[in-house]
Amino acid sequence: MTDDERFSLLYSLMVRVFGRTEREPRVPAELPVIAGYTSGVPRLGIPSLKMADASLGLRHTGGQGDGATAFPAGLALGASFNPALARTIGCVIGKEARARGFNVALGGGINLVREVRNGRNFEYVSEDPLLSGLVGAGMVRGTQEEGVLAVLKHVSLNASETNKFFLDAVIDPAAHRESDLLAFQIAIEQSEPGALMGAYNLVNGAYACGNRALLQETLKDAMGFKGWVMSDWLAVYGWEFALNGLDQHSGAQLDAQEWFNGPLRQAYEDGKVPKARISEMVRRMLRSYYAVGIDQERPCGPVDFAAHHGVALEAARQGIVLLKNEREALPLAPGKGRIAVIGGYAQAGVLSGDGSSQVMPPAGYAAQIPARSHPLLGPTTMRLFGPSPLAALRQRFPEAAVSYDSGAHIAEAVALARRCDTVIVHAIRHEGERFDSPDMTLPFGQDALIDALASVHDNVIVVLQTGNPVAMPWHAKVRAIVQAWYPGQAGAQAMTEVLAGDVNPSGRLPVTFPASVEQTPHPRLPGADVELGTPIRVHYHEGAEVGYRWFARTDRQALFAFGHGLSYTRFAYADLRIDAGETVTATFTVTNTGAHEGADVPQLYLTEAAGDVRMRLLGFQRVFLRPGESARVSVRADARLLARFQAAEAHWRIDAGRYRLALGRSAGELVLHGDAELEERTFGR
Ligand code: BGC
Repeated sequence: MTDDERFSLLYSLMVRVFGRTEREPRVPAELPVIAGYTSGVPRLGIPSLKMADASLGLRHTGGQGDGATAFPAGLALGASFNPALARTIGCVIGKEARARGFNVALGGGINLVREVRNGRNFEYVSEDPLLSGLVGAGMVRGTQEEGVLAVLKHVSLNASETNKFFLDAVIDPAAHRESDLLAFQIAIEQSEPGALMGAYNLVNGAYACGNRALLQETLKDAMGFKGWVMSDWLAVYGWEFALNGLDQHSGAQLDAQEWFNGPLRQAYEDGKVPKARISEMVRRMLRSYYAVGIDQERPCGPVDFAAHHGVALEAARQGIVLLKNEREALPLAPGKGRIAVIGGYAQAGVLSGDGSSQVMPPAGYAAQIPARSHPLLGPTTMRLFGPSPLAALRQRFPEAAVSYDSGAHIAEAVALARRCDTVIVHAIRHEGERFDSPDMTLPFGQDALIDALASVHDNVIVVLQTGNPVAMPWHAKVRAIVQAWYPGQAGAQAMTEVLAGDVNPSGRLPVTFPASVEQTPHPRLPGADVELGTPIRVHYHEGAEVGYRWFARTDRQALFAFGHGLSYTRFAYADLRIDAGETVTATFTVTNTGAHEGADVPQLYLTEAAGDVRMRLLGFQRVFLRPGESARVSVRADARLLARFQAAEAHWRIDAGRYRLALGRSAGELVLHGDAELEERTFGR
């Protein structure tokens, strides 16, 4: 390759820069407005890169009528505890990308949920490194099996949106390896993503995209990541980032300079950047092109949107979590009864999350409603997918009298509720990229609405469409609570099936639902009280004790624990056997002792390690059982989850001693206990 050819690979261009109407003239005119374009080298058969956002489905499609399959939120996928389903979704995304000629899918995101107000949590998978790593790996594998290169993002610790460009995430490096970086490590090992995307924030004093300790020493040298690291869009502050492990500058026109275009070339010609480094950057990119096979022409028939809708439906079904179900309020059995459906635009559609992961489904949006505004970045839009929950319910229960009230006036909603046998309240909270929620409340007075309804009616069912846990001051007063997240284009159907009992709910919480933000490691939202642009430092003092680990360590009771989720049947656990060696393996029997078929997710936890109270999800298994049926399940722990990372020695160490394990329905409901004696052991990676 010539130097011109080499340097041409090292940056991508936005097809159209935010806020401008004209297109980038260096991008071929026939390309749609995608996030990134990198020219190829025709002389050598090196393809150009056409990068589309694709965390929850394919973005960057054309106008109305030219949509892509819109999947549920990442948290819904996390709630399925089903990496195989993630892989199927990854395949669908790969197929739809390929059909449009895109060869790089920018997704999925596996940042750990550390901050329950983070506007982007809905895009991510969970608060747990194992679950996030396995689900993220599933997505990547599926997409790459279709010959489309997948980009796992954002390394690392981009845990909140507020002031993120000026936020230094400070964390103990060992704790970082045991938490957020372990998620990436597991996903890298299991799926070999072609590229990783860096985060916006700083990590321990250096911008993530130019952070030598993070990119070069950890991801590449220590973990053995073979692909390339691209920056996030608007996250590069100098050509020197290339010396610290960044291989490609994304959306280069957005930054102060096209750093890896002119300035890096100049630095190289001035002898400030070794040729070997430039070659390595190119080699990492080309390695991934050929490992994934983006240079290969693959036959590609028309997209089977009906089949893909089925995958979105299955994901929504498995992602819905039944949080509470008192006196068997659910499933509904309305017969000819009267049902009030209240609030949440349930007459129009289901809510989706905002930002670069927003997907327009093939049917287009059912509604677009102007929403919160950001002082600098402008307004956001609530986008709803049809059909509506109201229509789906009416279709499912044609005999019932189903009425709708918007909930705008509490008195009107209460009056309707009084006339009905069952009250279903849809509560929504619009969340997205660029915005955090200021607190855990529901907006638009929805808490007051639910409280008022539950004060006059004893059969209130709340369906939450949110991208995070919310506080539920009314939780004791309502009979049932269903967490539907942003359920995607098949959301209304999946919700209705769960409410009706056609589908037995099987989702489990991928994040702890705190009773209040005071229980979390950061009661004050980092950056909320400073002027945008003020450099701030956030000490992630909880270290690796994220989510349920923090609740265990500090002995706090969550409102709903990580892993929690009810079913219409019951599952019993028995005969726990623990085998110990280099790691631990738990074998146990799960029996469906109830009257309905359904899936369970038994979870294996470490609760104590050689005298240290330490909660870790060691493994899980989704099992589908008919009434009376049993399965013998075996779960083998990743030894790193039993170990502590030793930063000075750069290895993991298992201390000798007694390890206490528990099999649970959630992190808060441990059912069977067992011990293992482990010998001291250290190991690399
Ligand atoms: C987001 C990335 C996304 C990129 C390209 C950024 O704002 O943080 O997740 O892939 O834009 O659209």
